[in-house]
Amino acid sequence: MRTVIVYESMYGNTHLIAERVAGAAGRRGDVVVVPVTHATPEVIDGADLVVVGGPTHLHGMSWSTTRHTAVEDAVKKGEADPDAEGPGLRDWFHQVDHVHSVSAVAFDTRFDASPGFTGRASVGISRRLHQHGFREIADPESFLVDDQNHLLDGEAERAVQWAEAVLDRLVGGVRTETPDGEHLEQADSTRLDRA
Ligand SMILES: Cc1cc2nc3c(=O)[nH]c(=O)nc-3n(C[C@H](O)[C@H](O)[C@H](O)COP(=O)(O)O)c2cc1C
Repeated sequence: MRTVIVYESMYGNTHLIAERVAGAAGRRGDVVVVPVTHATPEVIDGADLVVVGGPTHLHGMSWSTTRHTAVEDAVKKGEADPDAEGPGLRDWFHQVDHVHSVSAVAFDTRFDASPGFTGRASVGISRRLHQHGFREIADPESFLVDDQNHLLDGEAERAVQWAEAVLDRLVGGVRTETPDGEHLEQADSTRLDRA
């Protein structure tokens, strides 16, 4: 199984979550984790699962102006992610081809408050995945930071658990025997494949 994780990150929070997801995926098969600045559209070729994550800015996905502000601040604080500069996920999605039913999930990082107040970048990512023909196998997920912009305790571990649950959905399957003895393999709640 090949998992590709594309992340956007200025302060490193989303990057750290992406690495935790990659750690879980790496125990199940090949994994590629790539910053959006280096993610050519071809990076997702042959992927069985595509995971896309980014920070929440102004209640949604980042813009070039908010990225610029974030990079400047992160550099000033000495917290800039190595691949902080450059285009974000909005631009990346413009280049991605339409796919046919490739499994995918979206996540974001955001402040620890009601999502109605903070917004969630993962909702915009999820919408774009759908528009590009990806088949989302789990709801978008958020990982939370405090008002000092540091991940809350336990969020990195929760990312591993979330990734395990997503991967279980993709590869675990539920074997079901029909009345005539035929086996069906349920790979997720929306699809039954003949085993
Ligand atoms: C310019 C800017 C705007 C932000 N706007 C929001 C927001 O609307 N809602 C929210 O929950 N967090 C917001 N945040 C906080 C980020 O989502 C949070 O710091 C995130 O973890 C950063 O991810 P990164 O470390 O991967 O860059 C904002 C941060 C910046 C720099």
